[in-house]
Amino acid sequence: MVSSRLTDAFFKDLDTSILPIEDAETLPPFCYTDEEFYNFEKEAVFNHEWICVGRESQLSEPGAYFTTSIIGEPLIISRDLKGELRAMSAVCQHRAMLVAEGHGNARGFVCPYHHWTYSLDGALTNGPAMDKTCDFKKSEVRLPALKLETWLGFIFVNFDLEAPPLAPKLKYVADAVERYDFVNAEEVGRPMTSEFPWNWKVMFENNNDGYHANRLHQGPLHDFIPSAKASFPELPDDTGGYLRYNGTLHPDASFNATQKAVLPVFPNLTDEDRNQVIFANIPPSLSLVLTSEMIIYLIVRATGPETNEMDVGELVAPGAQDDPSFEHRLELINSAAGKIMAQDQHVDELVQLGLRSRFAVRGRYSWQEGAQIDLNKWLVPRYQSS
Ligand code: FES
Repeated sequence: MVSSRLTDAFFKDLDTSILPIEDAETLPPFCYTDEEFYNFEKEAVFNHEWICVGRESQLSEPGAYFTTSIIGEPLIISRDLKGELRAMSAVCQHRAMLVAEGHGNARGFVCPYHHWTYSLDGALTNGPAMDKTCDFKKSEVRLPALKLETWLGFIFVNFDLEAPPLAPKLKYVADAVERYDFVNAEEVGRPMTSEFPWNWKVMFENNNDGYHANRLHQGPLHDFIPSAKASFPELPDDTGGYLRYNGTLHPDASFNATQKAVLPVFPNLTDEDRNQVIFANIPPSLSLVLTSEMIIYLIVRATGPETNEMDVGELVAPGAQDDPSFEHRLELINSAAGKIMAQDQHVDELVQLGLRSRFAVRGRYSWQEGAQIDLNKWLVPRYQSS
């Protein structure tokens, strides 16, 4: 019999990952590779935390819906005919067929298998030929609901119906990004989804890593955001998100070959905003990159101990897409961002291989990796209290 590695001593040893950065060490490598740890993490983190699933603007009309999957649970996110947002299981309460796929607009969900029909809020409205079934009450059947909250136009869901609200824990992040006016920012198309062979934390750490910024990405597409200009504001212990401010070498820096904004700048930004890039992480699912002209949002979904999916979406200032040259300007950004992300993804894949090695250790941090300590401070108490 294989003994568990999740001992009291293991959890106690995690204390060294939340020391001041000068003294701290990384999480144990097996937290990124191990099936038992991933199953533990599902309960310690994903069953109780708010998880971002998309943008409200993707459900602007009554009847609009999209599907997603969180830790293997197929979900539907919809706007019902009264205009309320809903989150519910996609699993038919008859014999477990999924009642919806993809995205679209509907008056309800008809299970393709035997045509049980559910309303947009999950209530069963029809079950054909169930009239002879004893003690079957249609009114008692519904697609199980999840808790739902919106924050800055993002939709978050929670499997834990007793979970406290999200917004109070994100006050500091909301204040830091307020001038970007997320709610009125315009989405560019639909987010792009990709699957990756590495642990969700490898992705999350990479999304807000100031240390690698002008090393891995050395060159004209990134040098104007030097690692040496990274700073990490101190936030309360119970914060639901954390920040990196990264000063730039010139105002309105942008990820494109001109190094300058090619789209309209968000109208309410201060000079300070325009001389930095803000990186914000809302674990365990949402990373934000804010430049003067664009908000890039990254929604990470853990899909296994060594796999994840990520949606990448873009928000721009109101009216930016009205410019006839918008597509060409956007192409300048996406071409550069694509090259930078390809460098990140190559590293992420090889980091995952390294983490599996017998020679992988708990490493030490540079001061430029403050966001990694902030993630540890969010994770370790959840691991230790489960
Ligand atoms: Fe859905 Fe039978 S499984 S109606």
